[in-house]
Amino acid sequence: MPFPLSIYCGKASLSYANLKTGEFPMANMNQRIKELFQNKRVIVLATASKEGIPNVVPVAMKKIIDDETILISDQYLSKTLKNIEANPRAAITMWDKTEGYQIKGTVSIETSGPRFEETARWVEERSQTTNRSFRSKGALILKVTEIYCVSPGPDAGRRIA
Ligand SMILES: Cc1cc2nc3c(=O)[nH]c(=O)nc-3n(C[C@H](O)[C@H](O)[C@H](O)COP(=O)(O)O)c2cc1C
Repeated sequence: MPFPLSIYCGKASLSYANLKTGEFPMANMNQRIKELFQNKRVIVLATASKEGIPNVVPVAMKKIIDDETILISDQYLSKTLKNIEANPRAAITMWDKTEGYQIKGTVSIETSGPRFEETARWVEERSQTTNRSFRSKGALILKVTEIYCVSPGPDAGRRIA
């Protein structure tokens, strides 16, 4: 375990399985992080342009795929997409009261294939439950590489996976 464990934020883990040369190890979200992610209606997604200009947006159509993968549906994203095309690194933050996490990773965009089609169906179903019409243009697949605690207190800023 290369990083000190967080007391307040709990522990998560790094996965070196199937790692190819030059790749980042995947970081695994623990049960608590996954629950918090799923229970929050909206999370915050940050990207940056090639020149380093930051961009931050709220997103609600998001899902956990597995311990190291997050999916975000793109209905309205614009600068975010341009940033990801130029620079795939992204960060997410989410919190509940004073417990919070920052998740960093690399993003790829899928606009066809089974994962996109499933996302499109999910967003279509969600759209039908509202009085607005919206549809998915793509699925952002974020592979988690680092997880930090952002809870105020002794663990603030500590890397936990
Ligand atoms: C509460 C809330 C939830 C949102 N959820 C999503 C979402 O899941 N997917 C999406 O594409 N846009 C979503 N949006 C809209 C984007 O955040 C918004 O269009 C943003 O301007 C895109 O910015 P960009 O051009 O910087 O990428 C949401 C906005 C709000 C206020």
